Order: sequence, then structure tokens, then C-alpha cells
Amino acid sequence: MFNIVALPGDGVGREVTTEAVRVLYEVGKKFKLDFQITEGLVGGASLDKYGTPIKDDLLEECKNANAVLLGAIGGPKWDDYPLEKRPEKGLLRLRKEMQVYSNLRPVKIYDCLNSSSTLKPEILSGVDLLIVRELTGGLYFGEPKKIEEYEDQERAVDTMEYFSSEIERIADAAFIAAQIRRKKVTSVDKANILATSQLWRRIVEKTAENYPDISLEHMLVDNCAMQLIRYPGQFDVILTENTFGDILSDEASMLSGSLGMLPSASLGNKTGLYEPVHGSAPDIAGKNSANPIGAISSASLMLRYSFKQENAADLIDNTVEKVLAEGNRTKDIFKEGDILTATSEMGDKIIEKIRSE
Ligand code: IPM
Ligand code: MG
Repeated sequence: MFNIVALPGDGVGREVTTEAVRVLYEVGKKFKLDFQITEGLVGGASLDKYGTPIKDDLLEECKNANAVLLGAIGGPKWDDYPLEKRPEKGLLRLRKEMQVYSNLRPVKIYDCLNSSSTLKPEILSGVDLLIVRELTGGLYFGEPKKIEEYEDQERAVDTMEYFSSEIERIADAAFIAAQIRRKKVTSVDKANILATSQLWRRIVEKTAENYPDISLEHMLVDNCAMQLIRYPGQFDVILTENTFGDILSDEASMLSGSLGMLPSASLGNKTGLYEPVHGSAPDIAGKNSANPIGAISSASLMLRYSFKQENAADLIDNTVEKVLAEGNRTKDIFKEGDILTATSEMGDKIIEKIRSE
């Protein structure tokens, strides 16, 4: 039996998680996998009910589960809350306490969506990259982090901090990922300016010595942002720290046509956390129009990485591709001539196809 905690969170998080859970149950039936899925509140939903973005007992439950599936966090309602009380803090605590330092964000281009991107189709053909984002260090967590009165004004401080051990383990994750791909790692930093990046580069170089089969290059983050839209086909694995990875993965999502398409897996030494890359999209929340494919593909990553159910994961991925190939599109990827498909309908169509396979 697989114990899964589902945390729909806020905004469209609930809608997309619902579809991902339905798909999981469906492949569970097919492959005789017994999923026990319990739900918890995180983010704004938890703040409203309990006054905290995540409760301690839920954190414990997540740490002890076989996997955690998360929807999305945050929304305008909580925008004025102080940092400590923001919905996002719930997600950050979850990532930190689950010690899921390795965030894998695969960017895959479905041929049939080639024309949905804002970029030219010829630039996109053959693009298949993986962003390996460090997830539990850097600016997100460094102390001090504060806003204070300073003489006659205010002063804000964030701290970017990395330990060599943190860099080494995420570099290992990137090199290992590259071994079953095209064997190339691009390590992205700002080593011309930041001390953390200088250490990063040195440790990545040293770690690379254990992987002679992998070719390593370094790229400055500003250049990488440009290269991603100039010639994305050059990338295989992009290895980078937390903040850079956050920004570059949103940028890279546009290669696939929409931020709604991208899944992610956050891994450490124990329980994995799976979530779509997109946010809570408050403008379309509750309208049954969000794209559930990022969430559904995250469930597929869960089957692959946490449960080692390659066949079940392949079935989800292939079915998503087929349903897209038939022209079904949620609003974010819809163009004239396509079949406009609601969130729940997209789930229905994927489930029907899985059933009939
Ligand atoms: C992401 C999101 C989160 C992040 C937010 C919701 C805290 O943007 O997963 O990319 O910044 O990591
Ligand atoms: Mg982000």
C-alpha cells in the first residue's frame, strides 16, 4: 500500500489536484496499486482555518508518508501578511523539513503543442531539458532575513548562504540525472559577482571528477536566461541554486507552451514531494479552466521516482500526449481549431483513455 498525502493548497491547486488524484486512482486500478490518499490543508487554506500556514502534525504526517502531492500555494487575500505568516511559508517549511533538496523540473515539448508556444516552432523542435534546482538553501532560507527601522528609513536584508555539502549533494543529483540523459550538465551561477556562486562553481567542478562520462559547462545566469529562448536545444541538464532555478524554470516553461504544463519532483533521502511548477492562479481559480497536466504529470513523476512504477508512469505520460494530440486544450494552450477543454474534462478524457488502454 502506498500512503499519499494530498495537499491541494490554494486557488487552482484544488482543481488540478483533484484531477491528479483521480488519475492516480485510475492507474492504481489498472496496475493493482493500492493508494491510500489523505488530504491536508496547507498555505492560505490552513492559515484561514488554523492561523498557521502548516500545522506541525500535518508536517509529521507528510514526513512519514510514502509521497506528498501538492497543488499550489498563495493568493491576493494573504498578500499583506508578514513573511512568517504568508501561505508560502507553509510550503517552505514543508520542503525544508522533508529535506527535499533536489527539485527536478523536466521541460518536455509535445510535438502537437509546438505552435502553442510564443517561440518559433523551429527553435523548439527536439527541446528536452531538465532543471535541477537546489530547493532547501540559498536566499529562501538564509538568516538574517528581516525588514527593520534603520536611522530615518527602513532596511531589508536577505541572506544568500550555501554550505559546500549542500552544493555537493545537488551536484551529485544533477550528474546522476545526466547519466541516463544526454550526459551534459550546465551549471548556472553568478560567479562573477556572488561568493556563493564562486563556492558553487568550485564544488561542482570537484564533484564532476566523479563523473568522467558527463560533460560539464558553466554559464552565468543572465546569459542562461537569454540562451533559453535563443537556442534551448543546447541544454540537457541545468543545475542551479534555489532562486535562479525558480526564475529560470518559469522562463523555461514557456518552451512547452504554458506554465500549466510543467510538473516537478522534489527529492531528498526519504519522502518525495510532487507539485506542478505553476502557482495558485487566483484570477482563474474556481472556474474549472486551469490546466491540470502539470499536476497529473507530477503524479506520474511520483509513480516513477517514489514508487518505481515505470509502466504506470509511462501510461500516464503517453495518455496525456494522446489526449493533447486529439486537440484537447485547456484555455492556456487553446488556439483556434482546438477543442476547448475544462479542467475536469481534461481529467475525464485522460481517465477514459487510461481505462480503454
Ligand atoms: C515554485 C514557486 C514557489 C517558489 C513559491 C510558491 C514559494 O514559485 O515552486 O517555483 O518560489 O519556490
Ligand atoms: Mg516559481
